Amino acid sequence: MLQRRAAARYSMKKEYLEAAIETAHEAGKILREEFDRPAEIAYKGDVDLVTQADKRSEEAIVTRLTKYFPEHSIVAEEGSGHESGSDFLWHVDPLDGTTNFAHGYPCFSISIALSQRGALLAAVVYNPFYDELFAAARGAGATLNGKRIFVSKVDTLATSLLCTGFPVHKRLANPNIHYYWDFTLRSHGVRRDGSAALDLAGVAAGRFDGFWEFGLKPWDTAAGVLLIEEAGGRVSDFAGNPYKLGGAVIFATNGLIHEEARAVALEISQRDPGAPLRR
Ligand code: IPD
Ligand code: CA
Ligand code: CA
Repeated sequence: MLQRRAAARYSMKKEYLEAAIETAHEAGKILREEFDRPAEIAYKGDVDLVTQADKRSEEAIVTRLTKYFPEHSIVAEEGSGHESGSDFLWHVDPLDGTTNFAHGYPCFSISIALSQRGALLAAVVYNPFYDELFAAARGAGATLNGKRIFVSKVDTLATSLLCTGFPVHKRLANPNIHYYWDFTLRSHGVRRDGSAALDLAGVAAGRFDGFWEFGLKPWDTAAGVLLIEEAGGRVSDFAGNPYKLGGAVIFATNGLIHEEARAVALEISQRDPGAPLRR
C-alpha cells in the first residue's frame, strides 16, 4: 500500500515536471523568435524593463499550465496568473534577464516551478539561446539536458567562483555593492550575469560555487532553489535560516563554502549595517 502510494506520488511529480519542461520549450521558441527582432521596450520602474517577449512568453506558459492543471494557482511576473485557492502553486518568470534580452546579450531564461503548500515539487530553468534545460523533481535529483548535475566540490571561499545580481528598482536602497566589493577581493571573482534563475542553476551545475542576492521574488528563485537542493547544495539566508520564497536575501552555495562565506556576509553587514547606498 505504502509502496503504491509512493509510486503514485512519484508519477505525479514526473507528470508535473514533464508539463513544466514542455511548457518551457514552448516559451523558449517564442523567446528565440523575439530575440531576432528589435525589442519593443517599456519601463516598469527606472531600469525595470518589460518587452513584448515577456508578455508573449507568459501568455503561452499560463495558457498551457491552465489547460493541464485548471485547478492549480499560478503566480506569474507580468500578472496574468490566477489564484484558485489550490494547494498547488506555479511560480513563473516568463523571461528572467529582460535587460540582457533587450540588449541582445544571450543570457536569459524561463523559470517555472511548482510548490504544494510551500514545498517545492518540480522545477525548470531553460536558456533557449544555448538550449540548456535544467530540471529537478523533489527526491529525484537535478539534471541538465537529461544528465545528472551536482554542485561543485570547491571547499574554500578563496578558491571559489561566485555570482550575484543587482535589483532593477530602488537601486540606491540596496546594500549589495558592499558585498560585491568584499566577495570579489576574497574569491576567484564574482560574476554578474543578469539572470538570477540561471545564476542559481549555475550553482546547481557546479559552474558557480555560491550565489547571493537581495530582494528577489519567488518567481526568480523557486526553480533555482529546488535545482540546488536536488544537486546537493544548500540554500539559506545570511543568518543560516532556511530560505523562504520572497525572503529579503537568498544565499545559496555548494554547501562546502556555506559557513565560511556566510561569516564574511555577516561581517560585512555588521560593518555596513543595513547599508543603503548614499550618494
Ligand atoms: C532580474 C534578473 C536579475 C536580477 C534582478 C531580477 P527580470 O529579473 O533575475 O539577474 O539581478 O534582481 O529582477 O526582471 O529580468 O525578470
Ligand atoms: Ca526575474
Ligand atoms: Ca522577468
